[in-house]
Amino acid sequence: MGYIMLGAPGAGKGTQAIALSKQFQMPHISTGDIFRTHIKQQTELGKKAKEYIDQGLLVPDELVVDLVKDRLAQEDCKTGFILDGFPRTIMQAQTLDVALKELGLSLHAVINVDVPDDKIITRMAGRRVCSHCGGTYHTKYNPPQEDGICDHCQRSLIQRKDDEEETVKKRLQVYHDQTQPLIEYYEDKKILLTVDGTESVDRVTENIIKALGERA
Ligand code: AP5
Ligand code: MG
Repeated sequence: MGYIMLGAPGAGKGTQAIALSKQFQMPHISTGDIFRTHIKQQTELGKKAKEYIDQGLLVPDELVVDLVKDRLAQEDCKTGFILDGFPRTIMQAQTLDVALKELGLSLHAVINVDVPDDKIITRMAGRRVCSHCGGTYHTKYNPPQEDGICDHCQRSLIQRKDDEEETVKKRLQVYHDQTQPLIEYYEDKKILLTVDGTESVDRVTENIIKALGERA
């Protein structure tokens, strides 16, 4: 049983993927988090990816698809997985279709977290993330128990470099040009499920779980 989290930058894909991963006991696979780990470790891939990420651009397809294929081939994905931030282009979606077939895996639903652009800009300014475990917070909407400290692993929270306003605007433009067409792609496959991402974090989670239950 596989799920994809789709949505604009800052829509809440990561926040919801973490909640669903706990609820369903499935691995959360975030390509953004994978790249950030590579950047931190200064690997070759990290150095290449950073050039694109810092500009708000997508990392080229060829640097992403094998990474995801390898991850999906691991044992823990056999009973389910939650992809967050992948696919982001039609080419990635088509490659994923082939890879899933080869691996004998299937997609149950594509969850589109819908948030208008103006709300995204405000959200990104207040986002804080844990560079160790990927925990995501918001200074106002989803604060940690202790200011600046991750609830899960007690490490310090940081602000992502690509959350500066101009970079966020670029990411939104890239989303509309390259990723939004995936809504129609998965609508045609009859597995798209759209939720209102402007409600509270907990309410969005409840609505996703409810909608998935109705589909089952
Ligand atoms: P990635 O890390 O995936 O970034 P993104 O898609 O831009 O999404 P974000 O992580 O910024 O937002 P999110 O939707 O996860 O929201 P979050 O839950 O954090 O990718 C980064 C970069 O890597 C890309 O720009 C690209 O360059 C590259 N990349 C990654 N995958 C790629 C691929 N497949 N192909 C090519 N390049 C790729 O929430 C945002 C904030 O809002 C948080 O502060 C949160 O606390 C708050 N919040 C969440 N939900 C709510 C709510 N309901 N109400 C109020 N606040 C909320
Ligand atoms: Mg994210």
